[in-house]
Amino acid sequence: MKILAIESSCDETAAAVVEDGTRVLSNVINTQIELHKLYGGVVPEIASRKHIENISAVVDKALDDAGLSLEDVDAVAVTYAPGLIGALLVGVSYAKGLSFAAGKPLVPVHHIRGHICANYIEDPSLEPPFVCLVASGGHSNIVNVKSRTEYEVIASTNDDAAGEAFDKVSRVLGLGYPGGPAIQKAAESGDPEAIRFPRVNMGEGGLDFSFSGVKTAVLNYIHNTEQKGGEINKNDVAASFQQAVIDVLSDHLMIAAKDAEVKNIALAGGVAANLPLRELIQKKAGKSGFKLYYPKPLLCTDNAAMIGCAAYYEYLAGVTADMSLNAYANMDIADPII
Ligand code: KG4
Ligand code: ZN
Repeated sequence: MKILAIESSCDETAAAVVEDGTRVLSNVINTQIELHKLYGGVVPEIASRKHIENISAVVDKALDDAGLSLEDVDAVAVTYAPGLIGALLVGVSYAKGLSFAAGKPLVPVHHIRGHICANYIEDPSLEPPFVCLVASGGHSNIVNVKSRTEYEVIASTNDDAAGEAFDKVSRVLGLGYPGGPAIQKAAESGDPEAIRFPRVNMGEGGLDFSFSGVKTAVLNYIHNTEQKGGEINKNDVAASFQQAVIDVLSDHLMIAAKDAEVKNIALAGGVAANLPLRELIQKKAGKSGFKLYYPKPLLCTDNAAMIGCAAYYEYLAGVTADMSLNAYANMDIADPII
């Protein structure tokens, strides 16, 4: 079964054709990063307008790269939640148009389910149940993946998402947007133990995250050092901040995996592209006897191949939408509206 998938929830206009869930026939990503860099973060209205301009060419290229026409695909899939509402609406409207015009089923996909499913593309031998850390610009969750279409949230963030914290700290350090790759690069030349930033735990076994404290601690450190006329070593700040975040992400993931009594753990979302995070979790997973899965960086950040993969399993489970499909800025991964 070949699925044409569309993703437009944030600042990437993306389309892909995926066969039977895990065979990626094409994967086109038009990123708006350069444009949003000017403002230090994503400007929602600009993102929506760029999606409108680009979506047609991106979808055409995805079909071309796969050597297919719209008639050859078996379904059209689209991210309908969560994300920037104006951005989501562009993809949803376009997918509805294609589905109606070609008479193909329309499959709505939850963006975070897509991120998790990127792991099946990377390694089709991965089988649920497994526990997945999803860390992106908008989300920080630990999810119990019970089957390819059944999910249970074990932990969420009480404030900032991990990626959001990377982006904000990067901005304060003048390292640019997106913050994750910039912080990772600066950290390579820094000492992760130079400054002890807080590792926030929510007390009594709580696995939820809170990243606003570490972000504020970085801001305070910079202000205090500047006030005293001291010099800021950006590389040390980046490395110490990154270490604080990845310590917490990895600790909580290991506890959740042990509690859930699974054998496999996985990573997903843009922050999962972070190399020191992967290495740290690999080390801890090895010690505790878990097998770790993670997608290549291109499949960690936003793309439509992951949406095509998730759509395949949703379709097999009977999920389709009609022309009344709407987009939603927020939606629990466990309880989709459709
Ligand atoms: O999954 P994604 O592309 O979009 C959302 O769904 O939010 O994630 C983007 C986030 C950004 O906050 C970016 O700074 C972060 O992922 N990111 C990273 C890395 N690459 C991207 N964070 C840490 N290390 C990286 N190498
Ligand atoms: Zn995402």
